[in-house]
Amino acid sequence: MSTDNDIRRLRSGSEQETAAFGKRLAERIIAAGSATVAGETPSTGWLILLTGTLGSGKTRFVQGFVEALCVQQEVISPTFVLMVPYKGRGIQVNHLDLYRVDSADEVADLALDELLDERQILLIEWGEKFQDYLPPADLAIEFSVLGEQLRELEFRGGSAKGRSVLPL
Ligand SMILES: Nc1ncnc2c1ncn2[C@@H]1O[C@H](COP(=O)(O)OP(=O)(O)OP(=O)(O)O)[C@@H](O)[C@H]1O
Ligand SMILES: [Mg+2]
Repeated sequence: MSTDNDIRRLRSGSEQETAAFGKRLAERIIAAGSATVAGETPSTGWLILLTGTLGSGKTRFVQGFVEALCVQQEVISPTFVLMVPYKGRGIQVNHLDLYRVDSADEVADLALDELLDERQILLIEWGEKFQDYLPPADLAIEFSVLGEQLRELEFRGGSAKGRSVLPL
């Protein structure tokens, strides 16, 4: 169940602004560190689902998110490679795109549970295709296209930990 308290909406007027939101979320998660949130094990990673139509800004958001790790690595869309890992500041971010994945078996082969250890953050685009096969998300972010440059990002906390970093 989610209440209005679990939902935050932000509007972005440019791709830079969307990337800045991604960076800000990463900074908040890094700052939260392994702080214990009531009722949850601190030693688990983060699962963040990014939903929304093609070109709505999901990958741009991840590019900003990864900037917070201070890695000098270009962020590419993992549409064809499925998953790209990034490491920095003692954290591993795995960026996954299930757009071209057709079967749940392929998702099972990815052993996503193993990518959710402490200090790991998993960001998934097009995860809604396989919602039943994914672990529960800490945050779900839905991207909507409101205009050529205008996007709305709706953040929904799915766990106490996820809610603890909202509002952004
Ligand atoms: N406010 C904005 N935020 C993000 N992207 C924007 C914005 N305004 C325009 N854009 C453009 O929209 C596109 C977003 O592309 P992006 O690859 O991030 O989308 P995506 O949601 O990952 O799509 P896909 O589902 O195909 O992976 C880019 O071309 C970007 O320049
Ligand atoms: Mg993308």
